[in-house]
Amino acid sequence: MISFRLNGKSTALEAPPIRRLADVLREDLGLTATKIGCNAGDCGACTVLLDGKQVCACLVPLGQLEGRDVATAEGLAADGALNELQESFLRHGAAQCGICTPGMLMAAASLLRSNRRPSRDDVEDVLGGVLCRCTGYRKIVDAVLNVGSSLPSISPKAGAAVGTSIAKLDGAAKLTGAEKYGADSFPADCLWLRTVRSPHASAGFKMGSFADLKQRHPGLVTVLTAADVPHNAYGIYPDIKDQPVLAESHVRYRGEAVVALVGDRAAIEAIADEEVPIEWHPRAAIMEPEAALAPGAPALHAFRPDNVLIRGFLRKGDVVAGFAAAKAVASGSFETPFVEHAYVEPEAGYARRVGERIEIFASTQTPYMDRDEIALIMGFDPSRIRIVPSACGGGFGGKLDLSVQPLIALAAWKLGRPVRWTYSRPESMRASTKRHPAKIQARFACDGAGKLMAVDFAGDFNTGAYASWGPTVANRVPVHATGPYAVPHVLARTRAIYTNCPPAGAFRGFGVPQAAIAHETLMGLDPLEFRHLNAIRAGDATATGQGLVASAGLAQCLDTLRPHWRAARAAAEAANRREIVSRRGVGIGCMWYGIGNTSMSNPSSMRVGLTRDGRLTLYNGAVDIGQGSNTIIAQICADALGVPVSALHIVMGDTDRTLDAGKTSASRQAFVSGNAAKAAGEDLRAKLLRLANVGEGAALELGAGQVILREGGRALTVDLAKLPALGSEGDVLIGEGRFDPPTTPLDADGQGIPYATYGFAAQMAEVEVDIELGSVKVSRIVAAHDVGRAINPQQVEGQIHGGIAQGLGLALMEEYLPGRSENLHDYLIPTVGDMPEIEVIIVEDREPLGPYGAKGIGEPALIPTAPAILGAIRHATGVRITRVPATPDRVLTALQRQAAE
Ligand code: FES
Ligand code: FES
Repeated sequence: MISFRLNGKSTALEAPPIRRLADVLREDLGLTATKIGCNAGDCGACTVLLDGKQVCACLVPLGQLEGRDVATAEGLAADGALNELQESFLRHGAAQCGICTPGMLMAAASLLRSNRRPSRDDVEDVLGGVLCRCTGYRKIVDAVLNVGSSLPSISPKAGAAVGTSIAKLDGAAKLTGAEKYGADSFPADCLWLRTVRSPHASAGFKMGSFADLKQRHPGLVTVLTAADVPHNAYGIYPDIKDQPVLAESHVRYRGEAVVALVGDRAAIEAIADEEVPIEWHPRAAIMEPEAALAPGAPALHAFRPDNVLIRGFLRKGDVVAGFAAAKAVASGSFETPFVEHAYVEPEAGYARRVGERIEIFASTQTPYMDRDEIALIMGFDPSRIRIVPSACGGGFGGKLDLSVQPLIALAAWKLGRPVRWTYSRPESMRASTKRHPAKIQARFACDGAGKLMAVDFAGDFNTGAYASWGPTVANRVPVHATGPYAVPHVLARTRAIYTNCPPAGAFRGFGVPQAAIAHETLMGLDPLEFRHLNAIRAGDATATGQGLVASAGLAQCLDTLRPHWRAARAAAEAANRREIVSRRGVGIGCMWYGIGNTSMSNPSSMRVGLTRDGRLTLYNGAVDIGQGSNTIIAQICADALGVPVSALHIVMGDTDRTLDAGKTSASRQAFVSGNAAKAAGEDLRAKLLRLANVGEGAALELGAGQVILREGGRALTVDLAKLPALGSEGDVLIGEGRFDPPTTPLDADGQGIPYATYGFAAQMAEVEVDIELGSVKVSRIVAAHDVGRAINPQQVEGQIHGGIAQGLGLALMEEYLPGRSENLHDYLIPTVGDMPEIEVIIVEDREPLGPYGAKGIGEPALIPTAPAILGAIRHATGVRITRVPATPDRVLTALQRQAAE
């Protein structure tokens, strides 16, 4: 028996002294505010206080707790009210997905106990061990610095929510630990599942009998193999179902699942992989596109004998004539690596059988696609699958693909018992999709006046062992290959190529960040003015021949950057006249990004209902993965309806209770689902106005069992009690809305209207390069983004901060090496100490098709950062970095090569 104090209360536990405190808190005591992101001391998500000092609960054995004092995030709020630190986090928008938030709070609390007025350095020091993948840390640091003098609470009146920085509607739950992520909630009688995965990138295998294994481990309830999967093939695209749930006879990448063990958790965790009777026959693996394309290379999939999953193509004008008439040409070859999403929440969830249906609670970005894919795998009608999304602890595209869902569904169905599964960090990093590595060759030509004339772009993308989102990348990149510039002659070709690497999939930008590194590196010698001259504007035609009719704010972004740019360039050049070793540089990166799916219908539908007792619910099928869609979609709907946003209750993502809002991807939820929510709000409002027979301008007031509509001096009442119930939620009035962005298919030359609207941005980076060490420190970013309309400016800023952090990682440190960087101490992501000062400038060139003028910001936030940093390195040193990340060894090599020339 071990006795200690937990959040001020005496606690005694009988458990093995070696048991990790994080497991004791979560599994034995149900205190799930303490998260597990790595179980290895790398991420800090499990940070708690031990005798007032921050520790990683995953590294503290229970045996060390005797007589000591443990504090977790559950103990911060008193009587249900947030404490001042939590309140400050809420007001500053310091929690996005929220999975790191309890750890951040506890780390900050350890500082504030001894230092009520810490400096920025003090705060950054104490938060240095806790990773956040969403926020870019700036708002977290500000929240800690401003404890006690928090920003005021914002409560807009009816009809005035859009454009205000209201706090996240689901923010408080993220701060107290009440929010339930994939691993936080499960039935008590759950079995546990784990997989055995391939140690080889390519191998055949044979399985022996599992009878001995079951005998040796009585807690092992069942073993699943490919033979148990009713339809063992899935994939994002309806015509490319190339990925098995469990491999059949051979594996195509290291980390591919082969066997699932289901049973008592302790029993199946005690089984070593080597005990499982699998006989491996390794084969030569194809790890690079060149090897996959070589004559005679074995085909990974029979239906693609040349290993080319898909080709993208775009042709506009006459590129040969364009280059022939040009006065200057810039060209280069560029290379980018696999990049890991590194969301702090590993994949997790549980499934249970309910009669003839299966319910799945899991972390996902796309409940409706999950439903349909599980139905396909199980051979069920989709109506027999219910997906209930958990809170999502970061996705960035990585949780658009299935992870735990198929096997927990299959196991729960077969056994009639609920089954849960959480990926370990190495499993997550081994098995999940990555950003596509790219090899790009590009040439840009301009005339004597600096106007771009022609672009020739060719990109090969390593799509790994399975298609995942490879077709999306191959098709999106040609459209964006010119960058956000008007170019009359364009030729762009892409290929997604199968290899024996982990599947590459969706990651914030779908290939556009890789393309942006190429086009931005090739821009001219006066970087801002050259871009301004060539910026695509309303009235110009894109490379697909689409005439931009409105909202193309790149030139405005550059105009707002100009004074910062001139001052920073002058300061850097002055400093460089004094300093030899530490060189300063200023670079610029621009981007554009088509909002929504490429040339495809991608509708969203929303419903808002009103019950007899006057309760309003927004049934919102769009999953909030931390970007804030729960809040901004509610702001839009509330304004359309004419009620305060606080009147809305939110149901998110449950496929039994919402309509299909499509995926949380392609920066589409504000624009597409926002429009659907606006239409739903307007529909319900119109019904109420009709019932009361009042005009469009009437004010609407919700009361108990009634709605009062005021017009002029009149007050008319709609008595809700008299209305019949509609549907299963008890609503008596329902508004529905649907929006599908107007696009057209692309023809054989890639011509058409791929997107209804585009986001634009220009970012400026200031760096210091140590030319003896090759190290690069980013000191400041100024980011100007045209978002159409900022529905919630604080959340737009938060997205930009987070995008900059991921862009900085892409530029300087992140490189996933299959088989080598499968944990968060070998794979580095930016910490609070890596983050520069950031200034955000929001440009609002309103989009007439957008809800109240909004476009999107999720992916645009990241794309310009790496090019801006690379441009700054070039300004500082004169060297052009064409392979990222620009690690010190690569920068040093480039400097040495330059010195030798
Ligand atoms: S879970 Fe403990 S440090 Fe990551
Ligand atoms: S808010 Fe920090 S990881 Fe998502």
